[in-house]
Amino acid sequence: MCGIVAGVAERNIVPVLLEGLRRLEYRGYDSCGVAVLRDGAPHRVRSLTRVRSLDREVREMGLEGGTGIAHTRWATHGAPATQNAHPIFSKNEIAIVHNGIIENFEALKTTLTRAGYEFSSQTDTEVIAHLIHRYYNGDLADAVRRAVTELRGAYAIAVFCKAEPKRVVGARHGSPLVIGVNGRELFLASDPLALSDVTDRFVFLQDGEIADLSRDGSRIMNRDGQPVVRGGRTLSQPPAEAALGPYRHFMQKEIFEQPHAVARTFRRKRPFDATLFGATSPYAFAPIDRILLLGCGTSHHSAMTAKAWFESIAKIPAQVEISSEYRYRETIPGKNTLVVPISQSGETADTLGALMHAQSLGHEYTLAICNVATSAMVRQSCWSFITQAGTEIGVASTKAFTTQLVALFLLAVTLGRLRGHVDEQQEATYRSQLSGLSTALQSVLAREPQIIAWAHELARKDDAIFLGRGSHYPIALEGALKLKEISYIHAEGYPAGELKHGPLALVTESMPVIVTAPNDGLLEKLKSNIQEVRARRGLVYVFADADANLSNEENQHVIQMPEYYGTLSPILHVLPFQLLAYHTACTRGTDVDKPRNLAKSVTVE
Ligand code: G6P
Repeated sequence: MCGIVAGVAERNIVPVLLEGLRRLEYRGYDSCGVAVLRDGAPHRVRSLTRVRSLDREVREMGLEGGTGIAHTRWATHGAPATQNAHPIFSKNEIAIVHNGIIENFEALKTTLTRAGYEFSSQTDTEVIAHLIHRYYNGDLADAVRRAVTELRGAYAIAVFCKAEPKRVVGARHGSPLVIGVNGRELFLASDPLALSDVTDRFVFLQDGEIADLSRDGSRIMNRDGQPVVRGGRTLSQPPAEAALGPYRHFMQKEIFEQPHAVARTFRRKRPFDATLFGATSPYAFAPIDRILLLGCGTSHHSAMTAKAWFESIAKIPAQVEISSEYRYRETIPGKNTLVVPISQSGETADTLGALMHAQSLGHEYTLAICNVATSAMVRQSCWSFITQAGTEIGVASTKAFTTQLVALFLLAVTLGRLRGHVDEQQEATYRSQLSGLSTALQSVLAREPQIIAWAHELARKDDAIFLGRGSHYPIALEGALKLKEISYIHAEGYPAGELKHGPLALVTESMPVIVTAPNDGLLEKLKSNIQEVRARRGLVYVFADADANLSNEENQHVIQMPEYYGTLSPILHVLPFQLLAYHTACTRGTDVDKPRNLAKSVTVE
């Protein structure tokens, strides 16, 4: 999703800005641009292609400058078009880049139009540019401060103006923005990752704050103009895992990284202890009597999978909410509820909003399960558990999902121990299941050649139904989500028992029905559901545990998984779905790592 990089330095910073954009590329975008001040005027280059092409154009034009702003845009207001790409100018005097959505932009646009401003884009950003221009009276930081008081919605912005060539001003509310410090060179970015080439010193801005950067130094003020003192942090950035190695796409690489990523996530000194989650005391979770899990997309499926673990292992009621729904719903807060926002990025606007909503209702206990230690969600929560997936670049989440599941399993067992529902013997069993997980995942990945054969058949279809039961129902949902995200085949995930209440009407000889079949307590019920499909001549593709006693028959294709893996089985069963979606998408020739219309980190509502 949208990304910001900006800075002020003595040297030409255009290469820094472009490298920053390149590092944010994986989040998804549909246009990009850069602007600098040169010869007393703002100059910009905007492109509807990739950052690589922007870079070429910038070089051809010889665009250079010590004060600049740059952006990757994921369209919200206004189609992906050059005139809507950022930076956006006001009267060739103010230049701005913006992440977020301004909700009252229409009212502001009307006022500004009456005041004589002409609009050349369909963006909500242009109202901010004109507002700053309107308030400008020789002090850019003051103009920004006054302008943002009129905005409703979410924003992170970086601005420069023609009249003050050695100054860049940033502001944020609801969208992340960080200052990067490299001696006398100062930068702004929506994610520290963008600046990892130039610095490891960062100052995180908070909502309502304004950052004023110039060649004389930086200062932060609040929305009343009062100075804010904030120390910097040194961050060792995760290594840029940019090399594809033997893989065709990052998604494929990330699928194959899972055995290591899950092992990194659970390899801790005290695996089932509250201190693992950042609590200072092993008894910190003692009052917890309910769990509220929040997430979007794949992270929501992690929550759904883990709900069963909290209930069966820790005997604690767990509620799962889609973040974008929960944040606007009337709910009854529980005093001792542990609120668990789950997010790969930790910046997803809806999950962050849901977390803040829970806090506003009085929920005190919050624990973020997140892959990014510096993210807003981690900072907003009392406790956190950082999954060790490493940087995930493919838009379709894979290793983030399985590492989240490991984290949630650790939490369920921790609570189970604390509540007296997990004895030493059970704990030892869980520990040994975790230890064997990597090897089991390796053996599932070895099924790739068989899965490729199925993918070639699936690639010719327009629709697919995914079925699962119990703790594997969310895995069916995740399988359907992966397939639609990257292959653009319409897919639905269903609890298999629900088939006869609707989706069975869709089953014909051309409808593939893809089933996850662990040898658990629901296997016999699931087998009956499979028969219901075969009786209607549906084409069944089953990923069945080796001990599930399912084999190839007419209209029934089976790929054998390892033997039933117990409670952690959903982690094994999602892998073939990821591979099936991946190879189906490859066969159809889609842009696997950057599927159309989607973004990696959705920082707007
Ligand atoms: C986007 C991504 C998904 C991801 C979801 C939630 O939609 O494309 O892959 O599952 O956001 O992201 P989060 O970072 O909060 O896990």
